[in-house]
Amino acid sequence: MKKILIFFILLVISLYFSGTVFAAGKCPQPRKTKSAPVDISKIDKTAEASKENGKKLYTKTAKPMACKNCHGETGTGDGMLGKALKPASTNFTCKNNMKDISPGQMFWIIKNGSKGTGMLSFSLNMKDEEIWDVIKYIRETFMK
Ligand code: HEC
Repeated sequence: MKKILIFFILLVISLYFSGTVFAAGKCPQPRKTKSAPVDISKIDKTAEASKENGKKLYTKTAKPMACKNCHGETGTGDGMLGKALKPASTNFTCKNNMKDISPGQMFWIIKNGSKGTGMLSFSLNMKDEEIWDVIKYIRETFMK
């Protein structure tokens, strides 16, 4: 009887750990994303941006699709669709990958998308100010 109990406890523990390992994005993560032109990679307008509006865009209102669906609620790239994509959706919490990614680089990719990947262009549906809002939210929430 006792053996069965121990077996179940171990099973639950191992499921818990494998679950968290798969749910979180990889780190370091392979990254072949194109670089923004140098002058754009140096722009940073997050100081005037609204983190609150950025959160709304990230989790709900961005069109054609909220960022959360791929990059995940917690920014690890484990959103409903994000898990299935190749290359994977960027794990914003991975310091190893994100420490050298400037606000301007993020702006460029959000505006233009990343060709050949699931990362869409948001230039048709988001104003530049809104893109800066979402960058501020991502940087201050997941990249700290
Ligand atoms: C359909 C899935 C999907 C959605 C929706 C999506 N992304 Fe992405 N995103 C990706 C993928 C996949 C990559 C990795 C691209 C690559 O490897 O080049 C990526 C990469 C990025 C990067 C990384 C840029 C870099 O230089 O490393 C940023 C920033 C980003 N996305 C922001 C956003 C924001 C902000 C939104 C919402 C407005 C969003 N994404 C919505 C799939 C998505």
